[in-house]
Amino acid sequence: NKASLSLRPSAVVGTIDRRLYGSFLEHLGRAVYDGIYEPGHPSADADGFRTDVIELVKELGVSAIRYPGGNFVSGFKWEDSVGPRAERPHRLDLAWHSTETNEIGLHEFQDWLDKVGSELMLAVNLGTRGTTEALELLEYANHRSGTALAEQRIANGRAEPFGVRMWCLGNEMDGPWQVGHSTADAYGALAAKTAQAMKMVDPDLELVVCGSSSSAMPTFGEWERVTLTHAYDDVDYISCHAYYENTGDLGSFLAAGVDMDHFIRSVVATADHVKAVRGSDKSINISFDEWNIWYNTRFEQVDRIAGVDNWPIAPRLLEDVYTVADAVVFGSLLITLLKHADRVTSASLAQLVNVIAPIMTEPGGPAWRQTTFFPFAATSAHGRGVALDVDVTSGTYVTEKFGEVALVDAVATFDADAGRYAVYAVNRAVDAPTELTIDLAELGDTADLVVSTRVLSDTDPNAANTLDDPERVSLTELPSRREGSVLRITLPAVSWAEVLIG
Ligand code: AHR
Repeated sequence: NKASLSLRPSAVVGTIDRRLYGSFLEHLGRAVYDGIYEPGHPSADADGFRTDVIELVKELGVSAIRYPGGNFVSGFKWEDSVGPRAERPHRLDLAWHSTETNEIGLHEFQDWLDKVGSELMLAVNLGTRGTTEALELLEYANHRSGTALAEQRIANGRAEPFGVRMWCLGNEMDGPWQVGHSTADAYGALAAKTAQAMKMVDPDLELVVCGSSSSAMPTFGEWERVTLTHAYDDVDYISCHAYYENTGDLGSFLAAGVDMDHFIRSVVATADHVKAVRGSDKSINISFDEWNIWYNTRFEQVDRIAGVDNWPIAPRLLEDVYTVADAVVFGSLLITLLKHADRVTSASLAQLVNVIAPIMTEPGGPAWRQTTFFPFAATSAHGRGVALDVDVTSGTYVTEKFGEVALVDAVATFDADAGRYAVYAVNRAVDAPTELTIDLAELGDTADLVVSTRVLSDTDPNAANTLDDPERVSLTELPSRREGSVLRITLPAVSWAEVLIG
């Protein structure tokens, strides 16, 4: 197979917002308890947080972290999670059929964020609660002093406001699984009312209205149109959520980026339609605040917890083990997000630790990087500045789900501060390498350019990192050949690659 692309400094798609490299940590399974927080662990700091996990989260390079859910937030009472720990109630978490102890709450999570150097992105409960409680949380979190709730925060040990800028107005309200799920009309009205009130407190807040839980939802498209018709003037983002899994059809799975691309284009078109109808001069961007590989079918059919007397604390849930093929698709989803950097200005890898996560932990034992860790860490570290369209030409293959699909997908970035280009490419061919030609002619004199290439691939696309073999998979160096202003790289079958040029 052969493919080619060109580095064209003027083909700017958009500026890459750092929030594109956000993540998500939910009170779910062992994400918080036995994940980031394990007081008895040998690496735990004075606050009970695992320092080995803190180091891995820093290495991963996540900007904003969405919290505390997810489905969890739709039954959450934020007041339970603040104040003296001994007085915090245990509650039923209906979303995950678990018991929430509230040992970690808003204050502790912010302390952890300060250690990892990430920003807090909060979700409010619009499932079982409404505008009043959202306003109360906002006052508690962000108002400086002199009101009952601000003074309560200060009494609870936090003199300075949390200063949360970005807020999600509920979670997946289109999903029948969501506690308090709603129609687009009812939710849109509630979201608009809540957003208006929150912006009366602080007009500079950035608010996210819930879009669809996936592009396969029966209400997809119409949900976006109706909710935005209600809330267009009051919000700044509409959310997208998408998860993909290998159901045995590897060709279609490798093409998941095609679905994500279609999803983004459809939501942009719908938002711009509402903009036109309203005669608005404001554009609504996308917060792709849940995306990942998730073996959801297995969860639904095997792992789901049930039983009226069975509400475990921090059970092992959604602990998917990711293969090389999963990480290649994962890397291609990052490519898709970058290709839409003009309109996708926030995104959250769902999730971060233990729960469909790039970082895994064992109680009392090690923490390690899953295969998906590597494309995220590399792209977050080097995929900065602006995104560039690279005009890929490649062969195609036919998939069951998406018809004819390009064998190679790619995007480039240019980081002016570092003076460096990065090319991200995925080879979807399952049984053959692809010769990729990168045309550097538009960069001018290329004689002094330094090139380094790393690839994620394996002779066994099912290889994974596990507790028993935590370093089985990592990025490896890939040789490249220079011929004048042309660079040639051989992408192995089922691979994701990063080429740094600068
Ligand atoms: O990330 C896991 C779950 O996926 C979230 O709680 C929910 O929002 C989505 O359905």
